Amino acid sequence: MNILLLGSGGRESAIAWKIKQSSKVDKLYIAPGNAGTASYGENINIEVSDFPALREFILNQGVDMVIVGPEDPLVKGIYNYFEQDMSLRNVPVIGPSKEGARLEGSKKFAKAFMKRHNIPTARYNSFTKETIKDAFSFLESLEAPYVLKADGLAAGKGVLILDNLEEAKKELEQMFEGMFGQASNTVVIEEFLSGIECSVFVLTDGISYKILPVAKDYKRIGSGDTGPNTGGMGAVSPVSFADASFMEKVEERIVKPTIEGLKEEDIDYKGFIFLGLINVDGEPMVIEYNVRMGDPETEVVMLRIKSDLVDLLDGVAKRELHKKELETDDRFAVTVMLVSGGYPGNYKKGKVITGLEDIENSIVFHAGTTTNSENKVVTSGGRVLAVSSYGCTKQEALENSYDTAEQIDFEGKYYRSDIGADL
Ligand code: AMP
Ligand code: GLY
Repeated sequence: MNILLLGSGGRESAIAWKIKQSSKVDKLYIAPGNAGTASYGENINIEVSDFPALREFILNQGVDMVIVGPEDPLVKGIYNYFEQDMSLRNVPVIGPSKEGARLEGSKKFAKAFMKRHNIPTARYNSFTKETIKDAFSFLESLEAPYVLKADGLAAGKGVLILDNLEEAKKELEQMFEGMFGQASNTVVIEEFLSGIECSVFVLTDGISYKILPVAKDYKRIGSGDTGPNTGGMGAVSPVSFADASFMEKVEERIVKPTIEGLKEEDIDYKGFIFLGLINVDGEPMVIEYNVRMGDPETEVVMLRIKSDLVDLLDGVAKRELHKKELETDDRFAVTVMLVSGGYPGNYKKGKVITGLEDIENSIVFHAGTTTNSENKVVTSGGRVLAVSSYGCTKQEALENSYDTAEQIDFEGKYYRSDIGADL
């Protein structure tokens, strides 16, 4: 089987690493990939949302399956593009239809979907500039802190949490004035939920599903969850509070009604569903849906899947997922992100990375890397490397990743030293 994987981050590196281990794969292409994915397959210089260029490549190379890493091509309708094209329609796309991708592409749609299917989530309402007075009244009916969410995709920055009412009203006005462009023409306002978060990933063929290992990510730049949000500074799996009883609630109250809801509404969905959950006094509630795997959660989840991923995805494509077994690894997996100094603000690129050879106790997934004109691996993004490790205990896995994090170097290297410490 020839596989094309779309994306270029740590998530795609981890997926590529896992695909490479499959006995079902002849060729793996990654578009566009990064300096690390080149060691698992062949990088192809095509952007993830350039559908006509992808089409040509797929037909020329005899690609048998496309796996979509990031949300952007899904929200733009890559699934439907394939389905509507006579020569592409037999090439399965792992990822939902455009309609399904609205679970991530529109917060308003996602909230209404949860309401229709009785899926536990924060109380909410959605508003536009025309209904700003009602929005103010709704805010007044809530207690601080106030949660404002841009309806559309805003590169992970569209959620504001404000401590006081006046500030919330001001920010809401700004959102309607285009703070997040078109994405904040509609704003969801919701009740603040208090608890600890985790990420649950579900693989579905639209009929049956498998729940993948649970992970927790660390979003803030600073230790102790301080400072601005980032694309993710690290992750751990398993998550101690997501025990059997919690996961049973997740499955019964959230996973099953989600899959059933998609079916009932005739929404074509073959791919990953990412449930951003919060544990409110032992009760799981949905903070958000995403229609892809998480980053950096994938970097630990892939380590904990023992089954052949391509076989599972083949089951998804053929609507035979119920025939497949998901076997998981009991060990702990952690990932520590090495980031560029200054990130998530301004940072420099092109810094030479050393110490990548002779790594023993970790798997280093590349995120923001490229090769320079001298063929050296250099930094090319804020999040540079995801240093991932196994351990029989969480502590052992962390020690492995932190040892490796010290062995690798580039100018400005920074990482959080408290990944997993809150669990
Ligand atoms: P989202 O983009 O929806 O995941 O939101 C980003 C982050 O904002 C989440 O990971 C939570 O930490 C926080 N958040 C979002 N909605 C709520 C809520 N209703 N209550 C508390 N925190 C929230
Ligand atoms: N780690 C959160 C995300 O991928 O959106």
